Amino acid sequence: MSVSEPTRDLARPVTVESAWYATPPTGSQSGDIAQVILSEEQINARIRELGAAITRDYWQAAQGGPLLAIITLRGAVAFAADLVRAIDLPVELDFISASSYGSHATTSGSVQILKDLDSDLNQRHAIIIEDIIDTGLTLSKLITMLDARQPSSMRVCALLDKNKPCPARDDPGRLAYTGFSIPDAFVVGYGLDYNQRYRNLPYIGVLKPEVYAADAEA
Ligand code: IMP
Repeated sequence: MSVSEPTRDLARPVTVESAWYATPPTGSQSGDIAQVILSEEQINARIRELGAAITRDYWQAAQGGPLLAIITLRGAVAFAADLVRAIDLPVELDFISASSYGSHATTSGSVQILKDLDSDLNQRHAIIIEDIIDTGLTLSKLITMLDARQPSSMRVCALLDKNKPCPARDDPGRLAYTGFSIPDAFVVGYGLDYNQRYRNLPYIGVLKPEVYAADAEA
């Protein structure tokens, strides 16, 4: 059973507009957030669209067995938990952990696989669920590694994309589903962290530069 061409109207990223930026709602961590770039409501609405697109594209393929959702730890957990519930098909979950960041807000350039999948990918239809594509280094490394296991198909669904040139982008069928195209800023919330913090914010926001500065001085 094959996968349909990506549903382009729903799968194309929504570009985040600066007019949407808002001041963070009050809360214990919100003092560290400069601006909210995506509210909980905007994220939820977009996830419903992505879920509908995936449901439509994998309807036929799912007749042959459940879709395998490959969830990248830890940043994609919040997104994946909501996305898989917006997919109206049988879905199995598995987790993989790859790291290209240390505790700093810039890429180190190297990628390490910290936890591999438990499932056999051979002859499966799989979707990698990613939180954010920055340099795309982590994703490219993952794709190369997982392609060697010969899945029937393997597309990527990323919540956020900073739109930088990356090898995974050379194959348009691969980055099939993207939530939002965002400016090149370091963002936190809805699974994304800085030094393991802010993952539980329900929105996505830009961290105040003084938060990094305080850490750099410490
Ligand atoms: P890449 O390899 O440069 O695309 O980065 C991949 C990983 O870095 C993502 O899966 C995130 O975990 C992390 N990352 C990249 N940009 C951000 C950001 O703006 N905020 C938080 N984490 C980020």
